[in-house]
Amino acid sequence: MNFNGKHIVVTGASAGIGLVTAKMLVERGARVSLIARRQLMLDAAVAELGPNSTGFSADVGDKAQLYAALDAASGHFGGVEALFANAGLTGGFTPFTLFDSDVFEQTLRVNLTSVFWAAQKVIPAMIEAGKGVILVTGSMGSKRGMAMNPAYVSSKHGVLGLTRAIAVEMAPHGIRANCIIPGFIETEALARIPPEQQGKIAARVPQRRMGSPEELAEVACFLLSDAASHVTGQDWAVDGGVLESIEV
Ligand SMILES: NC(=O)c1ccc[n+]([C@@H]2O[C@H](COP(=O)([O-])OP(=O)(O)OC[C@H]3O[C@@H](n4cnc5c(N)ncnc54)[C@H](OP(=O)(O)O)[C@@H]3O)[C@@H](O)[C@H]2O)c1
Repeated sequence: MNFNGKHIVVTGASAGIGLVTAKMLVERGARVSLIARRQLMLDAAVAELGPNSTGFSADVGDKAQLYAALDAASGHFGGVEALFANAGLTGGFTPFTLFDSDVFEQTLRVNLTSVFWAAQKVIPAMIEAGKGVILVTGSMGSKRGMAMNPAYVSSKHGVLGLTRAIAVEMAPHGIRANCIIPGFIETEALARIPPEQQGKIAARVPQRRMGSPEELAEVACFLLSDAASHVTGQDWAVDGGVLESIEV
């Protein structure tokens, strides 16, 4: 897999899935713009990745900041040829009847509306070029319900719907859109869960373990690459079999 200097923007690239995917993309010949809020983390990543990477700090839930970062990315490496809209937050778990409506709206803005904004910003140039790729990070919450986090589940169902909408409308323009579905991937997000709870989670995975960010990034790279040229509108789980299993 060689990305031949393709300019790929990765959001949520200061840590976890986004950072590991950005590294893999650079190793495979892409020029990558990393976007996240923590500038120091981005600086450290760029120092490690070298001149085929650059980083811009932005809160993707703030349209002006997101657009400034996307403009800066285009200014640095030229038009965006692929977007990995990966930034997301899980939010806290609260019983439905007590769930704070501000948290609900903020979660939708960061996890869903930001993907709409970013895609709307980069797609016109892709239409002009007659090609482009959008990859969005969903969740098992894109396909299943989950107690006590209606905001997260709604936002992640939303990004899968948004992916499909983009895929269908943009297919005639040579633009593909897919949604990658992480199962339980060992990142900062999961590290916040108490160890005994992590053990219980791993035991529920048919493979009896969590996934690594590298295992997720391999599939992300494939979906971002020309090797997936006839793949669009899909949701692709990297979950050790969780979504397709039942407990007996
Ligand atoms: N790990 C899993 O098992 C799992 C499961 C299901 C879904 N996911 C999804 O996978 C994606 C990545 O998660 P992860 O596991 O890699 O989590 P992570 O290690 O916590 O990384 C999250 C990334 O998103 C960035 N981010 C968060 N809010 C942001 C905002 N408002 N603006 C810009 N960047 C923001 C963070 O950077 P800054 O803090 O520097 O902004 C960080 O780079 C998320 O969409 C998450 O919902 C992960």
